[in-house]
Amino acid sequence: MTALDPAVLIPAEVIGRKVTELADRIARDYTARQPLLLIGVLKGSFIFLADLSRRIPLPHRVDFIALSSYGAKARSSGEVRLVMDLRQPIEGMHVLIVEDIVDTGRTLAYLTHLLGARKPASLKICTLVHKPSRREVEVPLDYVGFDIPDKWVVGYGLDYADQYRTLPYIGYVEPGN
Ligand code: IMP
Ligand code: MG
Repeated sequence: MTALDPAVLIPAEVIGRKVTELADRIARDYTARQPLLLIGVLKGSFIFLADLSRRIPLPHRVDFIALSSYGAKARSSGEVRLVMDLRQPIEGMHVLIVEDIVDTGRTLAYLTHLLGARKPASLKICTLVHKPSRREVEVPLDYVGFDIPDKWVVGYGLDYADQYRTLPYIGYVEPGN
Protein backbone atom coordinates (compact mmCIF):
# COMPACT_ATOMS: atom_id res chain seq x y z
CA MET A 1 0.00 0.00 0.00
CA THR A 2 1.30 3.47 -0.90
CA ALA A 3 0.34 6.82 0.60
CA LEU A 4 -2.07 7.30 -2.30
CA ASP A 5 -4.07 4.11 -1.68
CA PRO A 6 -7.53 4.53 -0.14
CA ALA A 7 -7.86 3.73 3.59
CA VAL A 8 -9.04 0.18 4.32
CA LEU A 9 -12.64 -0.29 5.42
CA ILE A 10 -13.06 -4.04 4.73
CA PRO A 11 -9.91 -6.17 4.29
CA ALA A 12 -9.71 -8.72 1.47
CA GLU A 13 -9.82 -11.75 3.83
CA VAL A 14 -13.02 -10.46 5.45
CA ILE A 15 -14.61 -9.98 2.02
CA GLY A 16 -13.55 -13.52 1.05
CA ARG A 17 -15.18 -15.08 4.13
CA LYS A 18 -18.36 -13.09 3.56
CA VAL A 19 -18.62 -14.14 -0.09
CA THR A 20 -18.32 -17.80 0.95
CA GLU A 21 -21.02 -17.30 3.59
CA LEU A 22 -23.38 -15.65 1.07
CA ALA A 23 -22.72 -18.40 -1.49
CA ASP A 24 -23.53 -21.08 1.12
CA ARG A 25 -26.84 -19.41 1.97
CA ILE A 26 -27.73 -18.99 -1.69
CA ALA A 27 -26.86 -22.63 -2.42
CA ARG A 28 -29.16 -23.79 0.41
CA ASP A 29 -32.01 -21.53 -0.70
CA TYR A 30 -31.83 -22.44 -4.40
CA THR A 31 -31.28 -26.21 -4.25
CA ALA A 32 -34.91 -26.79 -5.22
CA ARG A 33 -35.24 -23.58 -7.26
CA GLN A 34 -34.01 -24.19 -10.76
CA PRO A 35 -33.12 -22.86 -13.24
CA LEU A 36 -31.06 -20.25 -11.38
CA LEU A 37 -29.77 -17.16 -13.17
CA LEU A 38 -27.37 -14.66 -11.59
CA ILE A 39 -27.60 -11.19 -13.11
CA GLY A 40 -24.60 -8.97 -12.48
CA VAL A 41 -25.13 -5.23 -12.59
CA LEU A 42 -22.20 -3.71 -14.49
CA LYS A 43 -19.71 -2.47 -14.03
CA GLY A 44 -19.41 -2.51 -10.25
CA SER A 45 -20.45 -6.12 -9.57
CA PHE A 46 -18.06 -7.90 -11.92
CA ILE A 47 -15.52 -9.01 -9.32
CA PHE A 48 -18.10 -9.89 -6.65
CA LEU A 49 -20.13 -11.86 -9.20
CA ALA A 50 -17.08 -13.78 -10.39
CA ASP A 51 -16.17 -14.83 -6.83
CA LEU A 52 -19.75 -15.51 -5.71
CA SER A 53 -20.64 -17.54 -8.78
CA ARG A 54 -17.62 -19.83 -8.39
CA ARG A 55 -18.56 -20.56 -4.78
CA ILE A 56 -22.19 -21.53 -5.48
CA PRO A 57 -22.07 -25.32 -5.98
CA LEU A 58 -25.27 -25.44 -8.03
CA PRO A 59 -25.74 -25.31 -11.78
CA HIS A 60 -26.55 -21.74 -12.75
CA ARG A 61 -26.22 -19.28 -15.59
CA VAL A 62 -24.82 -15.78 -15.55
CA ASP A 63 -25.95 -12.71 -17.48
CA PHE A 64 -25.18 -9.00 -17.21
CA ILE A 65 -27.07 -5.76 -17.38
CA ALA A 66 -25.53 -2.30 -17.37
CA LEU A 67 -27.23 0.62 -15.69
CA SER A 68 -26.04 4.10 -15.06
CA SER A 69 -27.18 6.43 -12.32
CA TYR A 70 -24.04 8.42 -11.69
CA GLY A 71 -21.87 10.45 -14.01
CA ALA A 72 -18.11 10.43 -13.83
CA LYS A 73 -18.17 11.78 -10.28
CA ALA A 74 -19.45 10.47 -6.99
CA ARG A 75 -22.80 12.24 -7.13
CA SER A 76 -26.20 10.81 -7.96
CA SER A 77 -28.09 12.32 -10.84
CA GLY A 78 -31.19 10.69 -9.38
CA GLU A 79 -31.89 9.21 -12.79
CA VAL A 80 -31.30 5.61 -13.86
CA ARG A 81 -30.56 4.66 -17.47
CA LEU A 82 -30.45 1.22 -19.10
CA VAL A 83 -27.08 1.11 -20.86
CA MET A 84 -26.99 -2.57 -21.87
CA ASP A 85 -29.79 -5.12 -21.61
CA LEU A 86 -29.66 -8.88 -20.86
CA ARG A 87 -28.89 -11.30 -23.68
CA GLN A 88 -31.76 -13.67 -22.93
CA PRO A 89 -35.37 -13.74 -21.69
CA ILE A 90 -35.78 -14.53 -17.98
CA GLU A 91 -39.34 -15.84 -17.99
CA GLY A 92 -39.70 -18.84 -15.67
CA MET A 93 -36.19 -18.48 -14.23
CA HIS A 94 -35.20 -17.96 -10.60
CA VAL A 95 -33.35 -14.67 -10.92
CA LEU A 96 -30.85 -13.37 -8.38
CA ILE A 97 -29.65 -9.81 -8.99
CA VAL A 98 -26.03 -9.36 -7.90
CA GLU A 99 -25.17 -5.76 -6.98
CA ASP A 100 -22.00 -4.20 -5.69
CA ILE A 101 -23.66 -1.62 -3.46
CA VAL A 102 -27.07 -0.20 -2.57
CA ASP A 103 -27.02 3.48 -1.81
CA THR A 104 -30.29 5.41 -2.38
CA GLY A 105 -31.96 2.25 -3.73
CA ARG A 106 -33.01 3.99 -6.97
CA THR A 107 -31.04 1.68 -9.23
CA LEU A 108 -32.58 -1.43 -7.69
CA ALA A 109 -36.09 0.04 -7.69
CA TYR A 110 -35.72 0.63 -11.43
CA LEU A 111 -34.18 -2.80 -12.03
CA THR A 112 -36.72 -4.83 -10.05
CA HIS A 113 -39.52 -3.02 -11.86
CA LEU A 114 -37.90 -3.70 -15.24
CA LEU A 115 -37.13 -7.38 -14.59
CA GLY A 116 -40.29 -8.12 -12.62
CA ALA A 117 -42.32 -7.30 -15.73
CA ARG A 118 -40.50 -10.10 -17.62
CA LYS A 119 -42.15 -12.82 -15.50
CA PRO A 120 -39.24 -14.55 -13.75
CA ALA A 121 -40.25 -17.47 -11.47
CA SER A 122 -38.74 -15.43 -8.61
CA LEU A 123 -36.65 -12.28 -8.25
CA LYS A 124 -34.28 -11.67 -5.36
CA ILE A 125 -31.42 -9.33 -4.60
CA CYS A 126 -27.91 -9.95 -3.31
CA THR A 127 -25.70 -6.94 -2.59
CA LEU A 128 -22.21 -7.00 -1.17
CA VAL A 129 -22.46 -3.57 0.46
CA HIS A 130 -25.38 -1.52 1.76
CA LYS A 131 -25.45 2.05 3.07
CA PRO A 132 -28.67 2.07 5.17
CA SER A 133 -28.38 5.77 6.10
CA ARG A 134 -28.60 6.82 2.43
CA ARG A 135 -31.76 4.93 1.51
CA GLU A 136 -34.47 6.93 -0.28
CA VAL A 137 -36.43 4.11 -1.93
CA GLU A 138 -37.64 0.98 -0.15
CA VAL A 139 -36.45 -2.22 -1.89
CA PRO A 140 -36.26 -5.53 0.02
CA LEU A 141 -32.70 -6.90 0.11
CA ASP A 142 -32.51 -10.69 0.41
CA TYR A 143 -28.75 -11.11 0.88
CA VAL A 144 -26.52 -8.34 2.24
CA GLY A 145 -22.78 -8.69 2.80
CA PHE A 146 -21.93 -5.58 4.82
CA ASP A 147 -23.82 -2.58 6.17
CA ILE A 148 -21.45 0.39 6.06
CA PRO A 149 -21.53 4.06 7.10
CA ASP A 150 -22.05 6.87 4.59
CA LYS A 151 -18.62 6.86 2.94
CA TRP A 152 -17.69 6.66 -0.74
CA VAL A 153 -16.21 3.19 -1.02
CA VAL A 154 -13.92 1.81 -3.71
CA GLY A 155 -12.19 -1.44 -4.57
CA TYR A 156 -13.36 -5.02 -5.22
CA GLY A 157 -15.21 -3.70 -8.32
CA LEU A 158 -16.35 -0.39 -6.83
CA ASP A 159 -15.01 2.80 -8.35
CA TYR A 160 -14.58 6.49 -7.93
CA ALA A 161 -14.62 8.10 -11.40
CA ASP A 162 -13.75 4.65 -12.85
CA GLN A 163 -10.64 4.27 -10.70
CA TYR A 164 -9.70 1.80 -7.93
CA ARG A 165 -11.91 -1.10 -9.14
CA THR A 166 -9.06 -3.60 -8.97
CA LEU A 167 -8.07 -3.02 -5.33
CA PRO A 168 -8.40 -6.36 -3.48
CA TYR A 169 -9.98 -4.70 -0.42
CA ILE A 170 -12.81 -2.17 0.06
CA GLY A 171 -11.48 1.23 1.02
CA TYR A 172 -12.87 4.73 1.12
CA VAL A 173 -12.04 8.04 -0.47
CA GLU A 174 -13.18 11.60 0.16
CA PRO A 175 -14.89 12.62 -3.09
CA GLY A 176 -14.10 16.07 -4.35
CA ASN A 177 -10.50 16.03 -3.09
P1 IMP B 1 -28.29 3.87 -5.86
O1 IMP B 1 -29.16 3.86 -7.07
O2 IMP B 1 -28.21 5.23 -5.22
O3 IMP B 1 -28.66 2.81 -4.85
O4 IMP B 1 -26.82 3.64 -6.31
C1 IMP B 1 -26.40 2.45 -6.75
C2 IMP B 1 -25.16 2.56 -7.61
O5 IMP B 1 -24.38 3.74 -7.35
C3 IMP B 1 -24.28 1.42 -7.25
O6 IMP B 1 -24.62 0.27 -8.00
C4 IMP B 1 -22.91 1.96 -7.57
O7 IMP B 1 -22.62 1.76 -8.92
C5 IMP B 1 -23.01 3.43 -7.27
N1 IMP B 1 -22.53 3.76 -5.91
C6 IMP B 1 -23.25 4.18 -4.85
N2 IMP B 1 -22.49 4.39 -3.76
C7 IMP B 1 -21.23 4.07 -4.13
C8 IMP B 1 -19.95 4.07 -3.44
O8 IMP B 1 -19.81 4.37 -2.24
N3 IMP B 1 -18.87 3.68 -4.18
C9 IMP B 1 -18.97 3.31 -5.49
N4 IMP B 1 -20.13 3.29 -6.16
C10 IMP B 1 -21.25 3.67 -5.50
MG1 MG C 1 -23.79 -0.94 -9.16
